[in-house]
Amino acid sequence: MNHPLDPEAEHTERPSPGYGLLRGSTALVTGGARNIGRGIALRFAAEGARVVVADTAADAADATVNHIRAAGGDAVAVVTDLCTEAGAEEAFAAAESRFGLVDTLVNNAYARVDARAFGPFLRLTGEVWEEFHRVNLGLLFHPTHRMARALADAGRPGTVVNISSHAAARAHRNHIPYDTVKGGVDAFTRAVAVDLAPWNIRVNALRPGSVEVDASDPDPRARQFRAAQIPLNREGTPDDIATSAVYLASPLSQWVTGQVFNVDGGMAAQARPPQTENGPVWTPRNIDDYDATLERRA
Ligand SMILES: NC(=O)c1ccc[n+]([C@@H]2O[C@H](COP(=O)([O-])OP(=O)(O)OC[C@H]3O[C@@H](n4cnc5c(N)ncnc54)[C@H](O)[C@@H]3O)[C@@H](O)[C@H]2O)c1
Repeated sequence: MNHPLDPEAEHTERPSPGYGLLRGSTALVTGGARNIGRGIALRFAAEGARVVVADTAADAADATVNHIRAAGGDAVAVVTDLCTEAGAEEAFAAAESRFGLVDTLVNNAYARVDARAFGPFLRLTGEVWEEFHRVNLGLLFHPTHRMARALADAGRPGTVVNISSHAAARAHRNHIPYDTVKGGVDAFTRAVAVDLAPWNIRVNALRPGSVEVDASDPDPRARQFRAAQIPLNREGTPDDIATSAVYLASPLSQWVTGQVFNVDGGMAAQARPPQTENGPVWTPRNIDDYDATLERRA
């Protein structure tokens, strides 16, 4: 496996050894057809989960399922709009008829809804604002509610992993409804975790930083520029998010609930990126210069 700190390493789709951490569980991944959701679906299957890839994109969902099956995993695609009660019902009913109760839910899906949601505050309209929140908060509420009711009725434990964003904590220009929704994801995570704890249904969230996906800027200079602002010096891959999701979905985190974790190469830990740091930034390439400076002073 690539070492994560090896700058020459390919951080694309790593080989999946699998430790069986999710063996025996059934996971439904919303937006599992593409990018981060796809990475989570592949990694969960490699860890032994039966995976339901729930998405509106039929061809991409089938491709992800075929990929999992070809690697020896068990998966099914469910094509439905998950932001409504009826859509969530359809997805869970299909999942249950194939695999039984869903005990792990990853709320990863997100929809841009309308290009006008990504602009200056003064040009937003109430209509765009309301529709953006209806869809994206619906994607959070309906699958979670459907899953929790089924588990509570059956007296079974479960886990929910919500995919938030660094946008929940820090503003992105021209992303006001997006940032608001992601702040909502964090608050929902804490509130529902506390509420469902008596049923042993754990709810946590991941805040990805900048992850390379199909929509990322393909310009290598733009990518290099973004990577240089991240302490671990690269953008994330879908699998970087997926491995943290495995932890939260597995019994390894059985005493963890209501938590939000940054998975961002250290981005949120720094007060400012290296380019705007007050003093020098030491790396393996220039650390000897520091020693030389000390010697000169001595
Ligand atoms: N890409 C990043 O750098 C990044 C950074 C931080 C957070 N995130 C978060 O990670 C998650 C995944 O991001 P991504 O870049 O992989 O997104 P993406 O847009 O590539 O994929 C989202 C998936 O959700 C599906 N989807 C949308 N609306 C749906 C609906 N109503 N019902 C069912 N499926 C629906 C889409 O078809 C798509 O396959 C999102 O929640 C996003 O906010 C991404």
